[in-house]
Amino acid sequence: MNPKKLLNPFPVSTYQGPDYFCDREQETSKLVSNINAGISSALISVRRIGKTGLIQHVLSRLPHGFKGIYIDILETENIHQFLNHLGTALLHAESEQTGTGRKIWNFIKSLRPVITFETLTGAPQASFDLKPKQTEQSIDSILSFLDSQPFKTIIAIDEFQQITNYPEKNADSWLRTRMQQLKNTVFIFSGSQQHIMSELFASPKRPFYRSTSIMKLEKLDFNVYRDFIIAQFKRYNKEISREISEDILVLGDRYTYYIQLVCNRVFAATSKQVTSDIWKQQVYELLKEQEIVFFGYRNMLTRNQWQLLKAIAQEGKVFKPTGKEFLGQYGLLNSASVLRSLHSLIKYELIFRDCDSEGIPFYGIYDVLFQQWCLMVQIP
Ligand SMILES: Nc1ncnc2c1ncn2[C@@H]1O[C@H](COP(=O)(O)OP(=O)(O)OP(=O)(O)O)[C@@H](O)[C@H]1O
Ligand SMILES: [Mg+2]
Repeated sequence: MNPKKLLNPFPVSTYQGPDYFCDREQETSKLVSNINAGISSALISVRRIGKTGLIQHVLSRLPHGFKGIYIDILETENIHQFLNHLGTALLHAESEQTGTGRKIWNFIKSLRPVITFETLTGAPQASFDLKPKQTEQSIDSILSFLDSQPFKTIIAIDEFQQITNYPEKNADSWLRTRMQQLKNTVFIFSGSQQHIMSELFASPKRPFYRSTSIMKLEKLDFNVYRDFIIAQFKRYNKEISREISEDILVLGDRYTYYIQLVCNRVFAATSKQVTSDIWKQQVYELLKEQEIVFFGYRNMLTRNQWQLLKAIAQEGKVFKPTGKEFLGQYGLLNSASVLRSLHSLIKYELIFRDCDSEGIPFYGIYDVLFQQWCLMVQIP
């Protein structure tokens, strides 16, 4: 938690405490009550709507006697790197100066990692040089060590789906077996590749089936987020109208990532009252800055994939991507080629497949700025 008042009430990188965090009360209560009941949770959603923020919000308000350990495993490629991340997270959890901290640090040191300190931040990093079998044993020892402490441990593993890419077979079932033996430790697994996460946690064939409480995170409520934006401006003696806040929420499609980004810019560019010109100018500048990223998409994709990406961007939600009408309207080749392109675009995390409130599946674009840009300019 950061008690300092930030210069801008719309932080765009990490969690900055409850003053800068909108809602998620129900979700927070649910996760906290799972923790209290010793139940692990799986948090699943499309990207960029606030999974990591929610985990950090929960970990920052744990009752006395609980310790939260957070690891993001997106960049890990194998179990060895998983161990490095886990070891590092433990060193981050507590400073070496406190009683508990010293105990944790001494334990990690007993596993003989190389500990280095980042030049800029001074943050410690653990790196182990072990054979595969020893790697598993070390993860085991860390979990057993935590489980035997007087505090309860919550281990939050963000981007958990990455574990299915490890070359070690069945890393997930191995972890699940370990998990079941722990008495004093609960997990929060979070991930954005929904099909993999659902497969891991909801498929009877997989080891996590029925062992965790699954929470599908939805976007923040429109009215609640609008009132939050208005209140954040007010706290800093600035004003934004209801209409403009709503326009921002529509433009950013309630993805916290884009809403925070736009609000941050609009806030910084406003001295007293947000005008229509100010916010439009800020969006225009953002889109211009991002152009290089958007052209990067084009260079990375085949012509068919690029055409389909633009078509989905223009359409917003596409329910029948192989339907005659959609193919005809956007000059797409044929349904077989569209299916292939859909597959690739999902793999590149440029589009997602989700279901609407009636359970009907549709495809949408992740990058709402790209979507706006497609609508703004005529790109070949
Ligand atoms: N409830 C919230 N109120 C205000 N800001 C939030 C909220 N939730 C998340 N954010 C902010 O929005 C941005 C994106 O959120 P976050 O990184 O948590 O999303 P994510 O779902 O984990 O994304 P990804 O799929 O890319 O990992 C971050 O800057 C985060 O601090
Ligand atoms: Mg995240």
